[in-house]
Amino acid sequence: MNHRTVIITGANSGIGKAATHKFVKEGHKVIMACRDLDRSRKVQNEIREATKNDNIFLEELDMSSFRSIRKFCTTFKNQYQKLDILIHNAAYVNHGESYRLSPDGIELTFATNVFGPYLMTMLLNSLLAESDDPRVLHAGSNIIKHFFNPKKEIDFDNLRGEQKDNKSHSVYIAYRNSKMALLMLTFKMAEVFKQDGIKVNSLQINGAKMSKETLANFKPYWRLIAHIQNLFFPSPDVMAGLYYEICTSSAFKKVSGKQFNHKLEIMQPAQDGLGFFPQMKQVVGAEVYPTYADRADISDKVWALCEELTNKFNSADV
Ligand SMILES: NC(=O)c1ccc[n+]([C@@H]2O[C@H](COP(=O)([O-])OP(=O)(O)OC[C@H]3O[C@@H](n4cnc5c(N)ncnc54)[C@H](OP(=O)(O)O)[C@@H]3O)[C@@H](O)[C@H]2O)c1
Repeated sequence: MNHRTVIITGANSGIGKAATHKFVKEGHKVIMACRDLDRSRKVQNEIREATKNDNIFLEELDMSSFRSIRKFCTTFKNQYQKLDILIHNAAYVNHGESYRLSPDGIELTFATNVFGPYLMTMLLNSLLAESDDPRVLHAGSNIIKHFFNPKKEIDFDNLRGEQKDNKSHSVYIAYRNSKMALLMLTFKMAEVFKQDGIKVNSLQINGAKMSKETLANFKPYWRLIAHIQNLFFPSPDVMAGLYYEICTSSAFKKVSGKQFNHKLEIMQPAQDGLGFFPQMKQVVGAEVYPTYADRADISDKVWALCEELTNKFNSADV
């Protein structure tokens, strides 16, 4: 594959940093889209020195802020004028944190993990459409396995500050719901962008060692669990390698609207109504995803909300 121009959000840490290293090492041009420029500049320099490739750039992006996303996209279009691969890796995961709102007054987990990626892809789609092989990748999570339980639903009544005084708000649940909504966006965007040749896929991430900065954002109970999980999780390089394959391999050139597992197999919708043991096999494995992800009524609701909220906060002053 010829050299690609790649945006990676949240490229300063964990899987995003490892993916940046991999793409730059392979000779591609990477634009790190990060919110903390000082910290991220150190990572940029580190990767530039390690790879001896100067094709690594850094631009400011706060994925939770529509204004910041619009500004990033305007700068990007003016400055880089080409985009082949867009990797939505950044996510808000501060388990144990209380209810927080984005600068636009939206629940922070959904603002960062769902509405932000939607807006950014929409603003960059015309540029992507000019590429000879445009690919968008969403960082999914095996946390959506909770939706194998038919009682689990995305809570739409909680996204615009309604629960700001609710002490029992759970970022874990909001994160779980946001990753399901992101998978629904993957399927829907693949349809919407089919005519432009833009492929949109998701990788279900089972786990990757979390950095001490990420762990520091968790409240003590969640930090302890994460420390234990980290003992079993592979290095972020493993997931970064999968990002690379999905976005560059000719084998996936025509694949769109799919969720990949850690073996780069395309996951299928689960079978409902199975007995206990076959159902457990589905839950424990990584071959299938919960059928909730294919619910057209919910997916339409997610899409409509993305449109409504990102239009509502259409800051013309950027
Ligand atoms: N690690 C796992 O076990 C695991 C499992 C399932 C799914 N995933 C998914 O994999 C992806 C990467 O996770 P990771 O483990 O590599 O986590 P990480 O090391 O914590 O990286 C997350 C990145 O997102 C950035 N970010 C968060 N909020 C942002 C915002 N508002 N604007 C811009 N950037 C923002 C962070 O920037 P700062 O450094 O400035 O905070 C950081 O660079 C995420 O989408 C996560 O949900 C990870």
